[in-house]
Amino acid sequence: MRNIMVTGGAGFIGSAFVRHMVKTYPHYNIITFDKLTYAGNLENLLTVKDAPNHSFAQGDIADREAVGATIEAHQIDTIVNFAAETHVDRSILDPDAFLRTNVFGVYVLLEQARSAGVGRFLHVSTDEVYGDVSEGYSVESDPFLPNSPYAAAKASGELMVRSYHVTYGMDTVVTRGSNTYGVYQYPEKLIPLFITEALEDRPLPVYGDGMQIRDWLYVDDHARGVDVVLHHGASGEAYNLAGEELRYNIDIVRQLLALLGKPESLIRYVPDRPGHDRRYAMDASKARALGWKRQHTLETGLPLTVEWYQNNAWWWRKIKTGEYLEYFKQQYAARLASARDQV
Ligand code: NAD
Ligand code: DAU
Repeated sequence: MRNIMVTGGAGFIGSAFVRHMVKTYPHYNIITFDKLTYAGNLENLLTVKDAPNHSFAQGDIADREAVGATIEAHQIDTIVNFAAETHVDRSILDPDAFLRTNVFGVYVLLEQARSAGVGRFLHVSTDEVYGDVSEGYSVESDPFLPNSPYAAAKASGELMVRSYHVTYGMDTVVTRGSNTYGVYQYPEKLIPLFITEALEDRPLPVYGDGMQIRDWLYVDDHARGVDVVLHHGASGEAYNLAGEELRYNIDIVRQLLALLGKPESLIRYVPDRPGHDRRYAMDASKARALGWKRQHTLETGLPLTVEWYQNNAWWWRKIKTGEYLEYFKQQYAARLASARDQV
């Protein structure tokens, strides 16, 4: 392993992984390949901009020529694929880009990797492929029951990866991460959206009754988990990267407000997300057996995150303009108009 192409490396988790790899492995060359969609941001990579072992190429994983040229130019021997459309609500408004990137894009990447003789291919997947888990904890051999267009597209992409291992003998590994939070997360997801809205004393749109359960994982722990699986995962296997910190959404929201010193009167209950999964929960024993151990809990990770958004308004204020405001209006205007203060 020497020349590692990290697709989607300008996004939230991908950039944390790139920052981690550049610092931890000076003898690897890290090549970030990213389309720079609305969610991609080169400011996430400012700290590695001048690092001698990092370079950036702009491109689309669904574009054969761009992928092939980057593999060839950098003699890529390893691919780590974070590139995806990632927001469930956007997938409900318009699934098109989700199919293109999360399914067709993954296929193009696999095919280009195969024809160029790339070695290890790590694909970053999600706990959402298991669907709603009303009780217990998902293990890697559980069936896929995805419920949103986002989750279905991620499941399809992952199945393509599996097929390339079984059919062509490609050296693939898969990670399935749980809900990730932390610094540089695009402010459309629950935690950064609510922190940045609360900082401006704006209402916080909680979907349904707020009693959905998510399992929270700090972003640097997710990045380290991908590193561990990349180096030690068995070929053809998938690994759950679970925070193992299950919380009701409403409890996370209350905790954020307490950290920010803002009143609970900002909470609004709005019409639910269609097809909304009530609970995700995974068992992380298999990844732990490889040596992965998370370093943060919500008790340490949430204050770090709140503080970062308080101190880095320059980063998120620029994002909350233009296309973002259009999306926000489409997603929330009607919901907030019919909001209630109580369930
Ligand atoms: P993100 O939305 O912050 O970033 C996605 C990145 O991919 C952006 O930089 C974007 O420009 C890039 N991208 C999108 N389409 C592309 C394309 N066609 N070609 C090249 N680049 C493209 O996403 P994230 O939250 O960092 O998620 C990264 C990965 O982790 C995704 O595969 C996601 O499914 C998975 N995941 C996310 C979470 C989470 O809670 N955020 C949890 C588990 C798994
Ligand atoms: O579980 C892993 C997944 O986590 C990743 O695969 C996805 O890429 C990532 O976006 C995330 O999906 P979720 O849908 O769980 O995350 P989101 O931050 O959008 O929502 C978290 C919970 O909060 C969910 O139950 C919906 C709820 N929510 C979200 C928003 C944006 C609200 O109540 N109000 C909101 O405005």
